[in-house]
Amino acid sequence: MADTLTITDNRTGKTYEVAITDGAIKATDLKKIRTEAADDQGLLTYDPACMNTAACRSSITYIDGDKGVLLYRGYPIEQLAEHSTYLETAYLILNGELPTADQLKTWTHRITMHTMVHENIKKFMEGFTYDAHPMGVFVSTVAAMSTFYPDGKLIFDAERRQMQILRLIAKTPTIAAYAYRHSIGRPYVYPDNDLSFTGNFLNMLFKMTEMKYRPDPALVRALDVLFILHADHEQNCSTSTMRGIGSSHVDPYSALAGAAAALYGPLHGGANEAVLRMLKDIGSVANIPGFIERVKAGEGRLMGFGHRVYKSYDPRAKIIKRTAYEVFEVTGKNPLLDIALELERIALEDEYFVSRKLYPNVDFYSGLIYQAMGFPVEMFAVLFAIARTVGWVAQWEEMLLDSEQKIFRPRQIYTGAEPRDYVAMDARP
Ligand code: CMC
Repeated sequence: MADTLTITDNRTGKTYEVAITDGAIKATDLKKIRTEAADDQGLLTYDPACMNTAACRSSITYIDGDKGVLLYRGYPIEQLAEHSTYLETAYLILNGELPTADQLKTWTHRITMHTMVHENIKKFMEGFTYDAHPMGVFVSTVAAMSTFYPDGKLIFDAERRQMQILRLIAKTPTIAAYAYRHSIGRPYVYPDNDLSFTGNFLNMLFKMTEMKYRPDPALVRALDVLFILHADHEQNCSTSTMRGIGSSHVDPYSALAGAAAALYGPLHGGANEAVLRMLKDIGSVANIPGFIERVKAGEGRLMGFGHRVYKSYDPRAKIIKRTAYEVFEVTGKNPLLDIALELERIALEDEYFVSRKLYPNVDFYSGLIYQAMGFPVEMFAVLFAIARTVGWVAQWEEMLLDSEQKIFRPRQIYTGAEPRDYVAMDARP
């Protein structure tokens, strides 16, 4: 039997047949379902927040939220976290296949050669106040990059597009590190090409007067794993923003600034900062039952819990929890860990959280690691943004090359006033 859906419109008694492809019907196929009314433009689907609407086809990332599965280009996240590096995973996400040794060498070399930013970028970053949130600085600086690379507008020139992708992946850590150094009043540190991607990032963040910064290999590896875990997550809020803004064919710097702004929110990438603040506010294990009661009464959320797609343990959270212990061996235990562990234990047994399928997400433990590594909470979302840059640009490119995509433009159900005449000021009630 053909994959079709038969719909009877009970308003008219008419029956329609709509094709089902890949488990979906095309919303535009519903337009033909209409009444005799002159103003009926055909049936719409109404789906605030796109809870059950696929907006694209994508071959990058697969999530099974019920089973807690996350694959990049078919490879399980657990295996990538165990065996891969961030740059190798970035190559995979962008190109669809793992690189050969030569391809990885060339790719790593190209990224390393693009880590410097224009000196003028440093200058205008100096204009931000000392207490500017680094995420605000990051978003603005990425947007400003479009003025430094006007060839970024040539989005259908494959070679130029690759150049912007390289620049974005290579320079976001530098911008992030400058934003951090600015916030603590220390001089900016230039990239060190002898170090790995994450090793150099730690260098640009933490180097003081030593001639050569030597990052702790365990911390470099932990940061690399965290970056792998955050590299892509299919059609989340910031990625959809990247695709949405990019669909107007603007340059990728402007689109990525928008995506990073979406990430900044506390319901998305800002959640790990919110988790740390929450753990600090709770203050001690003894205060947890009272806190849980307040959450259940609707007074705030248990940050770092729940997910639109995962209805079981977020596979990234499992890996992060393990990584946390590895980091604490180097840095000493984060004192907030006990509060987090106890919160998790209680929440996983409590009817409120169990019945709503609320489990720890990627943000629940990542902040504890970042804090133990010496990052202030304001930097957490910036770290997420560096790692997610590859996902954003890969999804942006996929969108540009997809012949089914057009400028993003959802419909609405109008609920406002009927047409009426303008009322002069003195005639208004
Ligand atoms: N604490 C307490 N209750 C919650 C929570 C939470 N963290 N999350 C969801 N709920 C409740 C919510 O009140 C609702 O209950 P009810 O049915 O009684 O009204 C039910 O669970 C469903 O929640 P929802 O808001 O409809 O779910 P959503 O899919 O729209 O929201 C979410 C997903 C991630 C925004 C939400 O779970 C949340 O706000 N979590 C806390 C913030 C957070 O940790 N965000 C990071 C997400 S993962 C990384 C990323 O995306 O950047």
